[in-house]
Amino acid sequence: MREGPATVVHRQDYAAPAYWIRKVELCFDLDPVKTIVSSKLHIERNPAAEPQPLKLHGEDITVLRVMAAGESVSFRHEDKLLVIDNPPAGEQFVLEIRNTCSPEKNTQLSGLYTSGGGFFTQCEAEGFRRITYFLDRPDVMAVYTVTLRADKKKYPVLLSNGNLVEQGELDGGRHFAVWHDPFPKPSYLFALVAADLVCREQKIRTRAGKEHLLQVFVRRGDLGKTEHAMASLVASVVWDEARFGLPLDLERFMIVAVEDFNMGAMENKGLNIFNTKFVLASPATATDVDFAGIESVVGHEYFHNWTGNRITCRDWFQLSLKEGLTVFRDQEFSMDMAGSPSARAVKRIEDVRALRASQFPEDAGAMAHPVRPDSYAAIDNFYTATVYEKGSEVVRMMQTLVGREGFERGITLYFERHDGQAVTCDDFAQAIADANPGSELATRLESFKRWYSQAGTPRLKARGVYDAEARRYTLTLTQSALPSPGQPTKQPFVIPVLAALLGRDGRTLAAERLLVLDSAEQQFVFEDVDAEPVPSLLRGFSAPVILDDGLGDAELLTLLAHDSDAFNRWEAGQRLALARLLAAVEQAAPVTLDEAFVEAMRTVLRDPALDPAFKELALTLPSEGYVAEQLATFDPQRIHAVREHFREQLASTLHADWAEAFEANLVHEGYAPTPAQAGRRALANLALAMLCLHAVRSGNPVWPGRAYQRVKDASNMTDRIGALAALVHSHSELAEPALERFHAIAGGEPLVVDKWFALQAQASEPVGAGHGRSFARAKALLKHPDFSLKNPNRARSLIFQLCMNNPAAFHRADAAGYVFWAERLLEIDPINPQLAARLARVMDRWTALAEPYRSAAREALARVAAKPDLSDDVREVLGRALEAQQ
Ligand code: BES
Ligand code: ZN
Repeated sequence: MREGPATVVHRQDYAAPAYWIRKVELCFDLDPVKTIVSSKLHIERNPAAEPQPLKLHGEDITVLRVMAAGESVSFRHEDKLLVIDNPPAGEQFVLEIRNTCSPEKNTQLSGLYTSGGGFFTQCEAEGFRRITYFLDRPDVMAVYTVTLRADKKKYPVLLSNGNLVEQGELDGGRHFAVWHDPFPKPSYLFALVAADLVCREQKIRTRAGKEHLLQVFVRRGDLGKTEHAMASLVASVVWDEARFGLPLDLERFMIVAVEDFNMGAMENKGLNIFNTKFVLASPATATDVDFAGIESVVGHEYFHNWTGNRITCRDWFQLSLKEGLTVFRDQEFSMDMAGSPSARAVKRIEDVRALRASQFPEDAGAMAHPVRPDSYAAIDNFYTATVYEKGSEVVRMMQTLVGREGFERGITLYFERHDGQAVTCDDFAQAIADANPGSELATRLESFKRWYSQAGTPRLKARGVYDAEARRYTLTLTQSALPSPGQPTKQPFVIPVLAALLGRDGRTLAAERLLVLDSAEQQFVFEDVDAEPVPSLLRGFSAPVILDDGLGDAELLTLLAHDSDAFNRWEAGQRLALARLLAAVEQAAPVTLDEAFVEAMRTVLRDPALDPAFKELALTLPSEGYVAEQLATFDPQRIHAVREHFREQLASTLHADWAEAFEANLVHEGYAPTPAQAGRRALANLALAMLCLHAVRSGNPVWPGRAYQRVKDASNMTDRIGALAALVHSHSELAEPALERFHAIAGGEPLVVDKWFALQAQASEPVGAGHGRSFARAKALLKHPDFSLKNPNRARSLIFQLCMNNPAAFHRADAAGYVFWAERLLEIDPINPQLAARLARVMDRWTALAEPYRSAAREALARVAAKPDLSDDVREVLGRALEAQQ
């Protein structure tokens, strides 16, 4: 941390490094208070660069000595750099550095830190410089040999990247291990672990017939919760080889779980480090959603081994090169694992829902940036939904434009060209296009790449005209995009629109085809159309745009009942609900839901041909955040009141159907986290929530009683927390004893205690009498003995859940929510700036708030921004938020 504004890095300023580091020998004498790091760097001048001083990054570390070519060399400090003005002459030389760092004091969890009595590292993006002096940038790739020395009793397991080459005893109860990673890698992929861990291991044979060892390391008591992570890892190895021909390239692949971790997980070469949340699972401690999360995160990090590690990013502006592509790959993996067409569609719906919940608001708010950003002050602030989720959609559009096989050819060419290199998003797009000459992508590659450079969500308008005599349907597509920070005008995007035509009776009038819109306006003609059609556009959400197709209730009901594209079927139901929510938000008086809508929901709920998982998604009203996004200015309390009122109406009018759905979807078989079982549990839990909501309003004790029983007796966490949520959100009298019971059953298991905090922080804020109760409860939980700001999972479970996922509790007319936010932010920032900066982003959309929230939010922002000692991370986010003020 420092005074004054942070330096801003610009994409256009990229220059290749003046020196390369080809080989690194590192030796760690591990000690929590003072660890000694000795490094030997084999450096080479870059002949293409001007001769200049050697400047190494270093942060919060202390240098002991520096030797060049075997002799001591003078150096100086400049900002956060160690500068050697006169490195040895000649093309190559060896630099030896000895420095110290203090893992115990490292509460930022970036670099080398301690957690639960062990040592762990996190180096992406710029954490390696917190371990030792280095050219800490992704285009400097070296071969690492690492020696670890530590007390044998306290740290029996010593791990680093690659293969174990030697281990043995040392004096004084210490031992050592030497690891060698044959693949050149950037420093952000370095990792070490020294801790008291146990592991589950399994051998796997790849197609080439080679055997590999897979290991999952956890704390002693946690071995029983590693089965699913291991199964997910095995499935990932098999899938990447089958789908993309990409095999495991190391003899040994390790996953280590750690309790204190800023992110979900990290793809260090051969030694992935994971937040315990994405490793540990048993039916009793993890929900179906957790099981699915583990599968996708294990997949994601494993897939980085090729898309990220074998080919990495030239600079951090290219982050989406690895993250967007790897999210696309993990989404495809989960879809392939899901199996049935219906389960695949459910996964796609969930992914689009997540994109709309986080990326769309980001693209419309203060932090809007292109998939390939142009500048940053703190790179950690750009691990965003735009880089990840929108980046994945951009890759998906490429696949749509060249076809699935064409895309696989493109990936093959990408590796033929760039294996072992640090490259750019342009290189990736070029490879996909070059492997598919003449394709819809190759013919408009330059304009397609605007998806990388232009921020904001495009709007797509579609209007059709039917000529009965000519049996012709003409569809006019127009696109527009709103200005975003630094980008007042936009050029047209290339938008792939998968489209089909349905008759009013549901039959297909025109089979699915791909329309590619690449200018502001274009017409597409469908010949031989028998009758006036209902268009089904943007099937499977074929582009990340906001669609205005002008369809009314009748057409949407047709699509909801008949569309063969499950995504659009779901979307039609959401649009019907959204139209009603938006209309009601405008009215002062409560609105009664019309029969047509309620009947449509009833039909979905009763339809025996539909999957329970799909029903659950279709019967869940659009979120309060999504409703807010549709409005130029929004009142969070009004949206909450309207949505709760609608939920109550669906709870009471469909009461008998909910009861039937609950009974019909109870799972009596043994627990398995399969899409089929998970779908049934999800629908049964939604039904139970609706039944409790209705029961509490009507004073009937039966369903809350059953829910309470389920909290006590459920045989799995999904059902237990589902029942608890039903009681908490309906404000049943049984909520309190059920919460107590749940806490007791948790038995101090950290991931379960996190759920206990999170559920209370999300508790629906009562409308009218009792308003403010949920906020007060969350605030009181800060003082609970189990609460801590230092563990990111715990801080997120209470504070982030309240500020981000409970709008009606957070946005208060008395501004107490904003005061709470400001206080927590200022508490967390000195401990963990990355975490604090994420919390700062809660205010991204403050300019769209209605009064009095808007003024209060601005005041809170200004008050925090005026503090002198903020981290660069937080300062950047607050600065952008305040700039957004018009
Ligand atoms: N490379 C990231 C982890 C990371 C993110 C390190 C930010 C440093 C800063 C990793 O591959 C990743 O993307 N993890 C995600 C989960 C994934 C399934 C999207 C995460 O941690 O949230
Ligand atoms: Zn990633």
